[in-house]
Amino acid sequence: MDYSKYWPNLDDSQKALMEQIYTFASEVVAPKASHHDETGDFPKEIIKQMGEMGLMGMMVDEKWGGSGLSTVTYAMAIEAISAACASTGVIMSVNNSLVCAPISLFGTDAQKEKYLRPLASGQKLGCFALSEPGHGSDPAGLKCRAEKVPGGYKINGSKNWITNGREADFCILFASLNPDLRHKAICAFIVDTQSKGFSVNKLENKLGITASSTASLFFDDLFVSDECLLGKENEGFKVAMGTLDGGRIGIAAQALGIAQSSIDQSKKFAMEREQFGAPIAKLQAIQFYIAEMRTRQQGARLLTWHAAMTKDQGLPYSQEAAMAKLSAAENCMWIATKAIQVHGGYGYTKEYAVERNFRDAKITEIYEGTSEIQKLVIAAAELKG
Ligand code: CAA
Repeated sequence: MDYSKYWPNLDDSQKALMEQIYTFASEVVAPKASHHDETGDFPKEIIKQMGEMGLMGMMVDEKWGGSGLSTVTYAMAIEAISAACASTGVIMSVNNSLVCAPISLFGTDAQKEKYLRPLASGQKLGCFALSEPGHGSDPAGLKCRAEKVPGGYKINGSKNWITNGREADFCILFASLNPDLRHKAICAFIVDTQSKGFSVNKLENKLGITASSTASLFFDDLFVSDECLLGKENEGFKVAMGTLDGGRIGIAAQALGIAQSSIDQSKKFAMEREQFGAPIAKLQAIQFYIAEMRTRQQGARLLTWHAAMTKDQGLPYSQEAAMAKLSAAENCMWIATKAIQVHGGYGYTKEYAVERNFRDAKITEIYEGTSEIQKLVIAAAELKG
């Protein structure tokens, strides 16, 4: 499949990189996707290879072991990997956007040396622990407690819905010095998951993205030293929100990948499947589906690249990222649904990738801010005056 016609003006080295990523996605990631989906096995070997290819810290400065690439290139890479396997796409996205990015942005040089370098080069994996059992869409109300003690902080509480929570070596953890003060008392920490008092409590049994772990974490008198504070004390909410802006571009790109796979599968099936004496691709009903799938996906892709370009220019991009995620996720779900319709009964079976795409698509409307939260962010920016 030649995807280059969808790419923006890339220079020769970007083109070569994208070709390398698409080859890896189709030859290494895609053939194992259905196995990982069925077993729920974490794609450990694939993630290791992706680390060696520089895909786990794509936007991190080369000085700290990253690839020093743009957000646009990152979005294109996430799309390519997610088209092959959405579970692998989110593992990659969390490490890049939600773990490497805040350390790059808010970390001290010592934190970058200790945590960012191994994370960006793929030797270590990270997770982002913000959501809690009672605080998903409203993280300002989080209840996980941080208490000041000599030399650092003692943390008690729990977190839910943590992607990579089982495998992570390092965790970006948010806890409050005083929950009554809501966002004004939240702190961000970088925590080694092997620390005493840090445990993985439960793994969710999910509808889709089954090969990525979604864990609840538990902290029992977990001690973190002063050196582990990420950014300033009481300013962790801004770390979280700023990080999620970038994360939303990653999830938009993941949704584009799931949509791309759904479209590719639908076109192939429509050209092979015969009804009424001809391939169903000759039927206007099917052509209309294909036309609308492509138009919806390309619209979302342009919003995603626009958000990525705005970020790369160093301009505010919260609203652009929210629009990209809203559009990519909702259209991905629509496209994945119609892809099954094009396949008819076959699409309802596990023999066809569209069945997996349909299950994987749903989460893009939920994590890193539901579609409804994206609308709040977009409207708030719009009505600011
Ligand atoms: N960047 C920086 N600062 C920001 C910001 C941003 N994007 N958005 C808000 N802030 C700041 C505000 O300026 C304000 O600061 P001041 O007090 O200095 O004025 C402060 O944060 C509070 O802002 P709000 O009053 O707007 O905050 P709020 O509590 O009303 O929340 C919200 C706004 C947009 C609804 C926010 O709560 C939100 O994004 N919710 C969704 C959370 C989310 O996406 N969770 C997903 C977790 S990760 C995940 O999915 C799991 C995984 O592993 C993949």
